[in-house]
Amino acid sequence: SAEEAEAAGSFAFPEIEAGVDETHHVAEGYEADILLRWGDPLFSDAAPLDPRAQDAERQRRQFGYNNDFVGYLPIGGSSEHGLLVVNHEYTNSELMFPGLGPQSRKTSLDVLSREQVAVEIAAHGGSVVEIRREDGRWKPVLGSGLNRRITAETPMEITGPAAGHPRLRTSDDPNGRSVLGTINNCSGGITPWGTWLSGEENFHYYFIGALPEGSREAENARRYGLGGPFYGWGRFHDRFDLSKAPNEPNRFGWVVEIDPFDPHSVPKKRTALGRLKHEGAAGIVARDGRYVVYLGDDERFDYVYKFVTAGRVDPSDRAANRDLLDAGTLYVARFDADGTGTWLPLVHGTGGLDAPAGFASQADVLIETRRAADILGATKMDRPEDIEANPRSNRVYVMLTNNGRRQADQVDAANPRPKNAFGHIIEMLPENEDHSATAFRWEILVRCGPPAAGATFSSQTTENGWFGMPDNCTIDSRGRLWVSTDGNSRKATGRADGIWAVETDGPRRATSRHFFRVPIGAELCGPCFTPDDETFFVAVQHPGESDDDAIPASFDQPSTRWPDFRPDMPPRPAIVAVTRKGGGAIA
Ligand code: FEO
Ligand code: CA
Ligand code: CA
Ligand code: CA
Repeated sequence: SAEEAEAAGSFAFPEIEAGVDETHHVAEGYEADILLRWGDPLFSDAAPLDPRAQDAERQRRQFGYNNDFVGYLPIGGSSEHGLLVVNHEYTNSELMFPGLGPQSRKTSLDVLSREQVAVEIAAHGGSVVEIRREDGRWKPVLGSGLNRRITAETPMEITGPAAGHPRLRTSDDPNGRSVLGTINNCSGGITPWGTWLSGEENFHYYFIGALPEGSREAENARRYGLGGPFYGWGRFHDRFDLSKAPNEPNRFGWVVEIDPFDPHSVPKKRTALGRLKHEGAAGIVARDGRYVVYLGDDERFDYVYKFVTAGRVDPSDRAANRDLLDAGTLYVARFDADGTGTWLPLVHGTGGLDAPAGFASQADVLIETRRAADILGATKMDRPEDIEANPRSNRVYVMLTNNGRRQADQVDAANPRPKNAFGHIIEMLPENEDHSATAFRWEILVRCGPPAAGATFSSQTTENGWFGMPDNCTIDSRGRLWVSTDGNSRKATGRADGIWAVETDGPRRATSRHFFRVPIGAELCGPCFTPDDETFFVAVQHPGESDDDAIPASFDQPSTRWPDFRPDMPPRPAIVAVTRKGGGAIA
């Protein structure tokens, strides 16, 4: 009956069981098809993956590694034909290359050959893939002229207030306006004018070498955590060695805007949106037509930001929006204990962001966004990840994944848990439901984790329904919130990562229900609906990785061989298309 449906909440799918095993699971009545795997050809003449013959030339024409953000851009308004854009955040050398052993990614920078580094560089960045649904099944269109690989070597333009600044100039680029590639692209967003925004997140991993002690750039680098290398690219490429190219890191940590409908377009790093470890860049049009992009800086004790354009979106003229993201105001959030909050502008010459503080111009404010936000007194958060505004309610959802380092004397109203192992979700409501407003109200929607850890899921939430470590989120066309996680494991929560649907309204607010789970070692990224809600694209990232430091994983001994389950194939990150058996919207 309607009453029963109401009591059951807005979600109708049957919940899956939480747990961890070698494969994925989706709610009964739904299908989960593998659409694109690492190494799949994106062009008619591209080679399929042969992990023992992999080289950079092949990789540049294949789907990249570790799919994170997923965006769907309809062609002709269709929910069965469009462009899929996907970020390739990072690489797991220990799972990609035979014989390296489990520690190759994190500690043994010296073990990768020049060619293996070239494969890694080519496996980063992003993919644009035309896809079509025929007889119910999605397939890539290999002959499409729109298909494109973007890598860590694709030429890009630097735009906005910091473009051309001396601190962005290098010997390869004396003008400070062009840079090769994008790295560690985590989440992102799709703009109303049909471009793809991609956040450069943990760029610090890619640089070896040291900056002169006491130098200004050494101080700047410290605030972004540079100095602890993770990738050995700098052994073969001077620009990833700080001792040889001290300004190169200032050219990363930006939001990149890409026009997927023009395969020859030059991606643009939009410096007006600040330099931080950008998790995502999802936006919404404000009441007066300006575009507002919400931005999380994924680091313990870092901040929540938003950018408000100076100009208005022109819905009738795509080209008129081309450089909208180059002018506007960047703000950082302060959450006050009374449930109100303020967006503090990061504007040169105001709030102490001036020459005595070391900021000669707006370019300096943007290059050192984090230090500028420190000075303004923004609220130090528990790792802000994805942020999405719900166009139906104008409420904004902030995923705060965890912060094991917060001490009891460091808690505040917006980050109330010491040693926050499981994270929480904050709901913000802009004043007058106007996303350009500088005032907002906020509350915690839910403290995540198991019941014994003080989680605040509703009492209707089942044993399968709770989760820890919210990371990505999306809102379907009915205005319902879907959350995906990164960090659940046998050890942490006795369950794999996955997708949970979370009620935000009515008596079932903060009730969560488990829809999908990933194979062991993986996290779930990029959840994205087609406009008709009939397809739910999900990104399974780093399957087969170790989910427990005591049990290492490698190419030869991965924790799973998902999705191929072939003894000669390593696990492969992949995009999965979830649809309802017999058709219809995801319920
Ligand atoms: Fe790439 Fe913050 O996750
Ligand atoms: Ca993430
Ligand atoms: Ca999202
Ligand atoms: Ca993640």
